[in-house]
Amino acid sequence: MAHTDFIAGLPKVELHLHIEGTLEPDLKFRLAQRNGVELPYKTEEEVKNSYTFTDLASFLAAYYDGMNVLLTSEDFYDLAMEYFRKVAKQNVRYVEMFFDPQAHTSRGVSFHTVISGLRRAQLEAEQTLGVSSQLVMCFLRDFQAEFAMATLLESLPYKDWIVGVGLDSDETGNPPAKFTTVFARARKEGYQLTMHCDVDIKNSIEHIRQVIEDIRVQRIDHGTNIVENPALVDYIVENRIGLTSCPISNTWVSDSSKVDLLKELAGRGVLVTVNSDDPAYFGGYIQDCYQRVADEGDVDEEFLRKLSLNAVDISWAPLAIKNALREEILEYGK
Ligand code: HPA
Ligand code: ZN
Repeated sequence: MAHTDFIAGLPKVELHLHIEGTLEPDLKFRLAQRNGVELPYKTEEEVKNSYTFTDLASFLAAYYDGMNVLLTSEDFYDLAMEYFRKVAKQNVRYVEMFFDPQAHTSRGVSFHTVISGLRRAQLEAEQTLGVSSQLVMCFLRDFQAEFAMATLLESLPYKDWIVGVGLDSDETGNPPAKFTTVFARARKEGYQLTMHCDVDIKNSIEHIRQVIEDIRVQRIDHGTNIVENPALVDYIVENRIGLTSCPISNTWVSDSSKVDLLKELAGRGVLVTVNSDDPAYFGGYIQDCYQRVADEGDVDEEFLRKLSLNAVDISWAPLAIKNALREEILEYGK
């Protein structure tokens, strides 16, 4: 294991983290019991053994199934608090956290229930753990654009609690262009914009082109297939559009971690970052993701430091947080 101590102490920023993807089997059982939900598993081991996904669609089936235990505001609070407690120990200082309101409102759990629980955990984590965070609301791309628009409108009373919007779920057959109107309205409302372009998806380059040229996002989640199109690579370098790559997640939904692409893109000047995506399902929090890059990529400590600096640069954190973190990371280990 390379650079383990350096990685552990490095101040870190997480930009691609689905809070519902942090639901560990033990919490799943506790919430199931508290809410009287019957699970088709008897032990945590059985739950873990059921995680045999080989692509995005098979992962998403398990991910949505797991959410059935999340019913009350307290459940969302517990979910987020457990995540914050874990990553505070990994020296994570700032998180931009995705949440999927439609995955809950479509089950009869209200928008307010979800966001009030998450918000309470965010405030507590900032005060007691020193981890600050902001929420990024994701629309589910396999639902109709009209449902996304209705969700956008429903979010407006909570606008001060949400920094940006994203797009996730099953990308096949659901191109970014399906949500052009929704994202134009989100921009008008003052939200920052990002979208998933998952790895090795059909029409990947066309989807990446759409998010850059038509939707005009500030960053792209995953997006490493951009390496196949040098003109698009040049464009994102010039416009400082960063990528949130997730090496451990990649090993579950594609043929590799794509660490080689991360290095190649970094070499060309792209602002690449390392993130965990859905750590409870993919078996690795952010420290493990940095470790994966170090072990597989044979990179030096300056490269690891640059990954963390890139995350600060492309984050939507308040300027004071960005400046303080940048200084701390630059001085770390010197
Ligand atoms: N891609 C698409 N949808 C998702 C992901 C992802 O990485 N994680 C949770 N939902
Ligand atoms: Zn994701």
